[in-house]
Amino acid sequence: KPSCKIGPSILNADLSDLHSACVKMMDSGADYLHLDVMDGHFVPNLTFGHPVVKCLKPKLPDVFFDMHMMVANPEKWVSEMADAGASQYTFHLEASEDVPKLIRQIKEAGMKVGIGLKPGTAVEAVLPYVEAADMILIMTVEPGFGGQKFMADMMPKVQVLRSRFPELDIEVDGGVGPDTIQLCAEAGANMIVSGSAVVKAADPKAVITNMRHVVDS
Ligand code: DX5
Ligand code: ZN
Repeated sequence: KPSCKIGPSILNADLSDLHSACVKMMDSGADYLHLDVMDGHFVPNLTFGHPVVKCLKPKLPDVFFDMHMMVANPEKWVSEMADAGASQYTFHLEASEDVPKLIRQIKEAGMKVGIGLKPGTAVEAVLPYVEAADMILIMTVEPGFGGQKFMADMMPKVQVLRSRFPELDIEVDGGVGPDTIQLCAEAGANMIVSGSAVVKAADPKAVITNMRHVVDS
């Protein structure tokens, strides 16, 4: 299976100085950034959208931006996000009315395709689309807020995907930190999102290093 990458979620960072928060994460050893977009409809919270990404990307031209689109009508923001410099567009299966069409749209816009599953969605629902996607995201909390408790009972979904798709990028998101990364890696996840465990830490580099050590040992 592919080696583990760590992508901090900057949702709980100091958003008044987002660029510095992102630079700090990359300097601390992050492989990519996971940016949480919330619209107050698909999830009961609001964050930011493509205008913020458009300002941020020119300052971080080489960083992979994984846009976690927790929005209703994910079809609506594809071209805006591509134009803003997003690298990957991760939409929710539950929010899309025409998944194959949305996948085509994202690819034509030049971005990688991620498909996210909420905790209540069975992994079987995404199987028909896996081969057309670049990454599947298994949520390990209910989307909407950082700092929630990791749901270990989502690991069987990761195992099912890994056993069927040895080369697939599988991401986990929600409550992942030094204490829970091992379960994720053992189940077969190779893209690890970590929010509060990293951004709230006094020494993010130590936490990322520790997480890597856990999965490499
Ligand atoms: C939750 C977001 C996650 C979250 C991760 O809706 O999608 O990316 O911010 O933060 P932690 O690691 O604190 O759960
Ligand atoms: Zn997320």
